[in-house]
Amino acid sequence: MCSVIGYVGKNMSRPFVMEGLSRLEYRGYDSAGFACLSPQDNQMLYAKAIGRLENLTEQFNQHPIDGFLGIGHTRWSTHGVPSAENAHPQFDCQKTISIVHNGIIENHHELREQLQDVGHVFHSQTDTETIAHLFESLLISHNTFKSAVIDLVNHLDGAYAFLALAQQRSDTMVVVRRRSPLCIGIGDAEMFVASDVLAFADKTNKVIFLPDESFALVKKDIIELYDFTGKPLVPQVQEVQVNWHNSQKQGFEHYMLKEIYEQKNAIYSTVKFLQALDETIFDHLGLSLEELKNVERIHLLGCGTSWHAGLIAKFFFEQICLIPTTVHLASEFRYNHFFAEPNALYILISQSGETADTLEALRLINSMNAKTIALTNVASSTMVREAEGFLLTQAGHEIAVASTKAFSTQVAALYWFAHFMAYAKHIINHQQLIAAQDDLLIAAELLENSIENYKTVIAQELAPRYACSKKAIFLGRHVSYPIAQEAALKLKEISYIFAQTYPAGELKHGPLALIDNETPVFLFSHIDPLIYQKLVANAQEVKARGGHIILFAFEGQRELIALADTVFLFPKIKPLLGPLAMTGVIQFFVYHIAKELDRPIDKPRNLAKSVTVE
Ligand code: AGP
Repeated sequence: MCSVIGYVGKNMSRPFVMEGLSRLEYRGYDSAGFACLSPQDNQMLYAKAIGRLENLTEQFNQHPIDGFLGIGHTRWSTHGVPSAENAHPQFDCQKTISIVHNGIIENHHELREQLQDVGHVFHSQTDTETIAHLFESLLISHNTFKSAVIDLVNHLDGAYAFLALAQQRSDTMVVVRRRSPLCIGIGDAEMFVASDVLAFADKTNKVIFLPDESFALVKKDIIELYDFTGKPLVPQVQEVQVNWHNSQKQGFEHYMLKEIYEQKNAIYSTVKFLQALDETIFDHLGLSLEELKNVERIHLLGCGTSWHAGLIAKFFFEQICLIPTTVHLASEFRYNHFFAEPNALYILISQSGETADTLEALRLINSMNAKTIALTNVASSTMVREAEGFLLTQAGHEIAVASTKAFSTQVAALYWFAHFMAYAKHIINHQQLIAAQDDLLIAAELLENSIENYKTVIAQELAPRYACSKKAIFLGRHVSYPIAQEAALKLKEISYIFAQTYPAGELKHGPLALIDNETPVFLFSHIDPLIYQKLVANAQEVKARGGHIILFAFEGQRELIALADTVFLFPKIKPLLGPLAMTGVIQFFVYHIAKELDRPIDKPRNLAKSVTVE
């Protein structure tokens, strides 16, 4: 959502803060800012800019401000439009305090009114500015700095992570976490603070992940950690390996294209990793073999693309494990009645492991003492720490906002886990488990080969042709419906072309009225003969109304192919792995459509990589 970065130590803070912000810019980029305390006279120095980070960097050419204690921020707006006034840092009346913040202060309206009633003057529409003014007033009314911080955090409702500088303590950074992620990297006479370990990945591997509802007073060589009552906590230092260099573009024009091409290896790595777990998998899952065998009900939760992975995986668990499976939008889950069920397993799917909607659903499920597993790509994420168990994909760091390799490894991991559970339940034997793993590797191979087969015609002919579409319709059935939904989301989020998905059988119940010769219909076929025949009928409905079909089909499906205007053909594969085989071409096609439209593909407007507010 937003990124907060801080430094306190033996060196000047701005180099690290700006480098860290550039690494985390994928989390949000409406505006950026930096503040530090002057080493000469302890004055608060700051710069802000709307838009991309380079707009802020340019300001330092004129005003090279710096200090041993500094904080920075890139913002994805929740309260207040993107503007210089609303950019962080935010300040108190006298600019003796600066705050950078990720999250939402839910009671900021009443606090703002109370503070304005006693004379505080606000300059922004942000909830963040409230923190600065409240801290200012508490520093006056409290005898000690620490007691003022305790009072401050106990006034604030919501989910937030913020850093504060105060002239009163020019060697100390205040670091506060309630629900939103925040971690501290421990260096040699320097401390790095960030929303994501990636910010200081190559500077230290000693990391403290702030516990929920805790704050720290951080100096260059000391960390005092407390809970919100002021009780001292012992910092848990972990060794975390994150390879920053893997996250460079390595010659690709966009991270998204690099990550599309990384998918085959990412799926291979994920399958090999899961295979190699052997008996330790039960430690990861937080379940015994007996508990796994006794699972009678599965619930899959996620948002966006992760939700789509769940919709595909429903077919895996129901057809391979014979377990009734329900898929929920995490953002809706908390507002529906919770039905306690014996032997139910909840799998929360999240690439980042930080999505607030999914985290809040996890917390509700935990409160109901149900079994939870986090399926995520980030081992150090909040979701891994808060779920009872976890399953890790091995996609490597995914930078582009539009998820690609994280999605395909989620689908692969869920396919593998469904077979592992079926094997544990003696529904399949060991040979079938091994065969399923091989099927995944075949699907990964098909995914990559199909991109090679179509990359030239897509880039040179098809993307230019379809980039001028004003809208598009996506159709699928059974397991090809969720991949239609994912394809539509990819098109929407990086090209901004409106796209609507329907179960193909629904078309005749209304949406058929939308069919014309200007709205391309993307239709995703299925290998099952009965479902295929229904899709042929749906394609005929579209053609009879002058519709234009872009078909993703399997070799031999001649009747359907004959009805299409543009065809992508895929070798036959296990029916449930059809979506995975098609994924690469889908992503590559919409990538080139967005490129034709000159979109900021890695950082689409209005979006963020990790949505850490509800
Ligand atoms: C995917 O392309 C989107 N960026 C978005 O839908 C994303 O999948 C969603 O926000 C969930 O993120 P998560 O997987 O990190 O929880």
